Amino acid sequence: MYYLHIQNAGMKAYINKNSDRFLNELLDLLRIPSISADSKHKDDMLICANAVKDSLLKAGATRAEVYSTDGHPIVYAEKIIDPALPTVLVYGHYDVQPADPLELWHSKPFEPTIRDGKIFARGACDDKGQFFMHIKALEVMSNNNALKTNIKYCIEGEEEIGSPNLAKFVSANKTLLKSDVILISDTAMISLETPSIASGMRGLSYIEVEVTGPNRDLHSGVYGGAVANPATVLAKMIASCHDENNHITIPGFYDDVLEATPAERAMFAKAPLDEEEYKKDLGIPALYGEKGYSTKERTGIRPTLEVNGIWGGYTGEGSKTVLPSKATAKISARLVPNQSSQKITSLLLEYFKKIAPAGVTVKATEHHGGEPYLTPLDSIAYKAAAKAIEKSFGREPIPVREGGSIPICALFEKELGVKIVFMGFGLDSDNLHSPNEKYDIANFYKGIETIPYFHEYFAELSK
Ligand code: BES
Ligand code: MN
Ligand code: MN
Repeated sequence: MYYLHIQNAGMKAYINKNSDRFLNELLDLLRIPSISADSKHKDDMLICANAVKDSLLKAGATRAEVYSTDGHPIVYAEKIIDPALPTVLVYGHYDVQPADPLELWHSKPFEPTIRDGKIFARGACDDKGQFFMHIKALEVMSNNNALKTNIKYCIEGEEEIGSPNLAKFVSANKTLLKSDVILISDTAMISLETPSIASGMRGLSYIEVEVTGPNRDLHSGVYGGAVANPATVLAKMIASCHDENNHITIPGFYDDVLEATPAERAMFAKAPLDEEEYKKDLGIPALYGEKGYSTKERTGIRPTLEVNGIWGGYTGEGSKTVLPSKATAKISARLVPNQSSQKITSLLLEYFKKIAPAGVTVKATEHHGGEPYLTPLDSIAYKAAAKAIEKSFGREPIPVREGGSIPICALFEKELGVKIVFMGFGLDSDNLHSPNEKYDIANFYKGIETIPYFHEYFAELSK
């Protein structure tokens, strides 16, 4: 025990001594505009993948490679110290969401800026700031002779567009990725005072509905009233998806939902939520959602249906009297355990085609999706993560169900036969996908401090 203590003290001292450099290296990574959705940034994706690879080698990886795919490249790296020891596979993503609307940023999204102890930049929390902690933790462990596990890294460049090429890479490289657990830092915790661990992620179905009426935009006075208005029809179809209790009305939508047990609901209720603070932060006068469930339950254990974007007709300055020829919406559902993304996508597509009234044609097409994921709370890996967090935060973490999705999780488990444990250090208020995304510097260092404990406890508990 004395020996362990000395080693931990050594790692802490190392982090303190190198903290400025760690931060500056992250800022360099954040300067690369690796937007996976935007083909203008294709070259930046490769530049970013190479930067990640170089940082892994610098941190002590014995092998690091950039694998090209039909889309953006995947970075793989490893440090194998002893094949007899357990192996941890770290997954993360170097791609980021588009930064628009740019005018709402207080500093430029790809010119990282520090204000109030927070790093503001696109990708600061999602996910560059988070996977980079694992790279720095590798450096810390390597340089303090403290590695207790083998470590592999798989950092992809297409998470934000649904990981279309990672599945193929995983099934073609099962031996390369062979591991005992997959560790992901791409989620949030409640706060530094109240640490939490994501025990599940929601799945996703995503469709696009295009309603077409007349063969051209029409004068709304000459034709309005006599011709179905695609925008009105689309709005009605969308409104029909929820009843007065905000329950989803699409037939079969809830059929496969694995309801959380009263014991699970009681456990999740332990996660505090200050509803006044929540409303204030979002600038909303009241909360809204499915009757019978708390706010946390609405975003954690319940499936939902959202409109992500809707357009059609005249949206420019002033007014133009026009009956649009077309109206379109992007609609997604978040799914909970036991729901199947493919099945729900089919239900949604069928529903919108079926309820289309005469007078319009409806085209419904599918986008990417992903399955929900649940982490068992009794696994060695979960225990190691909980213990690691307790050690560095001084408090046992609360398990919470995350509202977001990481599409590859279920596939990793299916293809590699290993469980995933989430150790996220972000905050819900980090503005992921929004203007002014940020990551608290304190969370960044706390993560670097916690990760070596995870490896140590995972090795210990695996014996
Ligand atoms: N890191 C997020 C997922 C996340 C966000 C988990 C917040 C927990 C808390 C991830 O990068 C993400 O944004 N995923 C997308 C999925 C996708 C297919 C674009 C999502 O959830 O919308
Ligand atoms: Mn992410
Ligand atoms: Mn994201």
